[in-house]
Amino acid sequence: MATRPDFLEFFAGGGMARVGLAGMFDCAFANDIDPMKCDAYRANAPGHEIAQGDIWNLRPADIPAASLAWASFPCQDLSLAGGRRGLNAPRSGAFWGFWNLIEGMGIEKKGEKAPKTIVIENVAGLLSSHGGRDLQTLITTMADAGYRVGAMLIDAALFSPQSRQRLFIIAHKGKLPPGLVSDQPDDTFHPPALRAAVAALPDQTHMAWVWWRLPHPPRRNADLVSLLDRNPPESAWRSDADAKHLLSQMAPLHRQRVEAALANPNWNAGAVYRRIRIENGKRIQRAEIRYDGLAGCLRTPAGGSSKQLLIVTENGRIRLRAVLAREAARLMGLPETYVLPKAETNALKVMGDGVSVPVVRWLGENLLAPLAGAKGAKAAA
Ligand SMILES: C[S@@+](CC[C@H](N)C(=O)[O-])C[C@H]1O[C@@H](n2cnc3c(N)ncnc32)[C@H](O)[C@@H]1O
Repeated sequence: MATRPDFLEFFAGGGMARVGLAGMFDCAFANDIDPMKCDAYRANAPGHEIAQGDIWNLRPADIPAASLAWASFPCQDLSLAGGRRGLNAPRSGAFWGFWNLIEGMGIEKKGEKAPKTIVIENVAGLLSSHGGRDLQTLITTMADAGYRVGAMLIDAALFSPQSRQRLFIIAHKGKLPPGLVSDQPDDTFHPPALRAAVAALPDQTHMAWVWWRLPHPPRRNADLVSLLDRNPPESAWRSDADAKHLLSQMAPLHRQRVEAALANPNWNAGAVYRRIRIENGKRIQRAEIRYDGLAGCLRTPAGGSSKQLLIVTENGRIRLRAVLAREAARLMGLPETYVLPKAETNALKVMGDGVSVPVVRWLGENLLAPLAGAKGAKAAA
């Protein structure tokens, strides 16, 4: 049996990096601080332990050698919603706990123990937090440690029907196999905001930069309605008064979209988000609906407005409900066999914090496994 390279899963949450890398990498070590997430992880990786606790309490000696380290570190201080206190704020600052370990592993066994490849995943807000300085610090830190570094902005919607754009920073130390690097950016994965951030890197760091080459996936073949339950539990439905209230929060364009759906007797569903808009100088709570076959970005349910809602229309009736955790799991690209936490809110929390599984798989097959010299990996042609 061919042996697979090992990987380390930091900030492991519900283990979606592990699911995406299955068959390409074996997970040699996982860590997360949240007991509920660790339970979710264990339920999906029977026989494999996850080290539960603060990453700052781990020592390099606790971590086994591996080819790859994956770190989806907390995003709260980098996203607009979190106030953007940045890479040195308590939550997103956990990155430095991770980096301490990588540095420490580099000292052990003459550097042989440190992972050759590192993946950092976070929100697109990392591109601009603190005017781009957080990203510069992060890339410079890895470049100074001898890694070549590149990043891609990948929207999960390329693979599954959820609009979820995330930044993937991939660093590699050592020889780069042929075919994995391009001499110029790609419009799909390196949009203008990323190119501008790269252009602003200090000269020294710029020398370590690489434009990773990733093939474009085939056209997505599922849309939102194909993943929804037609007969959810009766308790999932909100009251007619709630539905009416939500409709009252819609601007005329969005109301018209619902009216058009209602005119068709067939079952249909649109995804709704509530957000604050400034109109005529006033902050107004708006509900916005989309019928483009996509859900909006799933978030961790911190309050009522962060839930992905659905307006369902059929035979002249309008009904309102939130996306169910199982539907959210499908939107994250997880298989039906993925074991969800029993409490719906916990399950939605695990999903909202997760990394899109098909994106991880695509990166694994086309970049990470080839970088690890793994057999059967598809290198970009
Ligand atoms: C963005 S989520 C990553 C989720 C994971 N990639 C997945 O697919 O489920 C960040 C995770 O970091 C964990 N975390 C936050 N601070 C931590 C710390 N100081 N030490 C260890 N884990 C931490 C959180 O509990 C959360 O599960």
